Amino acid sequence: MTQINSKQLPEHVAIIMDGNGRWAKRKGLNRIRGHRKGADTVRKIVTFSREIGIRWLTLYAFSEENWKRPALEVQALMKLLNLFLKNELKEMQENGIQLKTIGRTARLPKTTRQILQDTIDKTSSNSDMTLTLALSYGGRQEILDAILKIVSQIEENKISTSDITEKLVSNSLYTSGMPDPDLLIRTSGEYRISNFLLWQISYSEIYITPTLWPDFGENEYEKALKDYQMRDRRFGARG
Ligand code: FPP
Repeated sequence: MTQINSKQLPEHVAIIMDGNGRWAKRKGLNRIRGHRKGADTVRKIVTFSREIGIRWLTLYAFSEENWKRPALEVQALMKLLNLFLKNELKEMQENGIQLKTIGRTARLPKTTRQILQDTIDKTSSNSDMTLTLALSYGGRQEILDAILKIVSQIEENKISTSDITEKLVSNSLYTSGMPDPDLLIRTSGEYRISNFLLWQISYSEIYITPTLWPDFGENEYEKALKDYQMRDRRFGARG
């Protein structure tokens, strides 16, 4: 079997983690059990990414649309997030992992916001890998927030319309300062983007697997990375 070429790794991997509910249903379990197993996969994939040398890992953990789920499920997801952050702080510190968030995080419950801020502060000088959690995140909302930011800078005479470039838009997004994802992975076989990183994935390679997120492991991840390494990325230019 071919090995992953460590010199051609994607710099930034973004993942739409989908299928926790279906995993639970297939096993006759409650959806929350699926999310719990999904959180175990998050741990594995974060550790593996760091081990193989991925520089940026961005996970779609909670979308703006996810607020419409039953309150008990939302609460369970927040609890799992709190637990993940508390349990993983040591690992992040030991392995040089910095935590970032993107999304309208002000909507998150106070305890979650506090734990997030604490983890962000404590890991801010780590520089081997950046783990970004998309929380209360929506791609359209992000673009809208960027537009509002740019308009208010124009109104305050800080910039003029001629300053609006692709670079300014990129720098006005929540992901400002991050490279665009090279590889976007989606689990559970749906061929959808689901409002994730709409601006940033213009040239990303997309890998979709039918595997449900709780069953996604190192082997499947390696398969996605090898598949990525076979692609011929031309960014719209002629081959
Ligand atoms: C999709 O499953 C998954 C989510 C709603 C978000 C991902 C959440 C986790 C992996 C759990 C905890 C997260 C962290 C960061 C510790 P789904 O419920 O939409 O699955 P379905 O489409 O099969 O119903």
